[in-house]
Amino acid sequence: MSAQSPRRGQWGSQIGFILAAAGSAVGLGNIWRFPYMAGQNGGGAFVLVYLVCVLVIALPVMFLEISLGRATHRNPVGAIKAVAPRSLWRLLGYLALLTGLGILSYYSVIAGKVLTYCALYVRKLVLGEGIVYSGATVEVVIYFALFLILTVLVVSGGVQRGIERWTKILMPLLVVIMGAIIVRSLLLPGAMAGVKWFVTPDFSKITPRVILNAMSQGFFSLSLGMGAMLTYGSYLSRKDSIVTCGTSVVLFDTVIAILAGFMIFPAVFALGGDPAAGSTLIFQVLPKVFGGMEGGAVVGIVFFFLLCVAALTSTVSLLEVVTAYFVDERRWSRRRSVWTIGAAAFIVGLPSAFDLAGITPWTSITILGKHGFLEAMDFLWGNLSLAIGSLLLCVFAIAVWGLKNAASEIEIGSPGFVRFRAVWIFFIRWICPALIGVILVSKLVS
Ligand code: TRP
Repeated sequence: MSAQSPRRGQWGSQIGFILAAAGSAVGLGNIWRFPYMAGQNGGGAFVLVYLVCVLVIALPVMFLEISLGRATHRNPVGAIKAVAPRSLWRLLGYLALLTGLGILSYYSVIAGKVLTYCALYVRKLVLGEGIVYSGATVEVVIYFALFLILTVLVVSGGVQRGIERWTKILMPLLVVIMGAIIVRSLLLPGAMAGVKWFVTPDFSKITPRVILNAMSQGFFSLSLGMGAMLTYGSYLSRKDSIVTCGTSVVLFDTVIAILAGFMIFPAVFALGGDPAAGSTLIFQVLPKVFGGMEGGAVVGIVFFFLLCVAALTSTVSLLEVVTAYFVDERRWSRRRSVWTIGAAAFIVGLPSAFDLAGITPWTSITILGKHGFLEAMDFLWGNLSLAIGSLLLCVFAIAVWGLKNAASEIEIGSPGFVRFRAVWIFFIRWICPALIGVILVSKLVS
């Protein structure tokens, strides 16, 4: 469609894309949010509905996002401009950028808390100090800033030297570390009760609310709806298979979420924790769990380090989307882009950090029925905006780009896609927009 500008990078290989995109997908969404959602929404029942939603909605949208990125070799704004010059659809691209900045801001605050726990366990191991999370404002803000700086440094290295090289090292490490913790967790006496609870669907627990929670968790977890997969797809070459790449990312992300369940629930059940503890499940129950274990400080360091790694490869993708816009469209240098956006994310994220630190105006703010600034941001950007973005992307593909063009792009590099072409078009035209519409409406009325 358009020639690639010399400043743009490209993945060294297809596996480079898969690692980076899987790194984007796997994050706090899998390891912190998925278990707490499963815990509150009926365990096995939630897991089952989640799997169906991922297959029916996420997989088709994943192909669509990657294909628009590769067809145009652009960031979200540039991609839309390339297909529909001077149209209002451009606003969808700007919405994606805003969403990226919004998620980056509060996500880094939570990631900063993970970093704090990591440091706490290092202190415990080295100095023998007890584990006390102070939650002091300075501490929260410093670790939040530290995490953002880490993200900026990785992204400033550029697509190949930064993202691809780092994820090539970090992702396999992640799987190895998780495997070790799962073994540890499963060996605890009484662990099997947790396994059973997690894998046995209780169909009476499948309510409309559970279905809606499972669907929106799928969007968040797979980094869909704000152009992250579009941007990563823009660094793919026509020799690469979108079907292989998209399917691998969905598989990988889903496996990690399930593994996170096996890592957390057996231990929670064995040691008498509450699976429905909510968003504090990891931060309050697990330190107690580690505390009752021999060598718990080491397990703690390993676990929270793993969460940091997973969160970093996700924030990297959030920053990369916005950076790609400034580099491609505004001709900024990569360095200037990453530091400017990083600073903006810090300012936007400060109220979320104040909320986490318990400072009053921010903890009591209520937006759209969500209490506290951080939860309101998560709802606004992580839920609403992603659903709107995905829905509009489907409509854009149907009405402007053309589903035939999209399907033909997917076919390049994936000849076998011919057999699924009609099914995919049917899903993007009817099933996905309808289901996403239901999520959106239910979110707005509830
Ligand atoms: N998917 C990541 C997680 O599960 C978070 C994330 C990274 C994301 N990039 C995104 C979510 C883009 C939505 C859109 O933690």
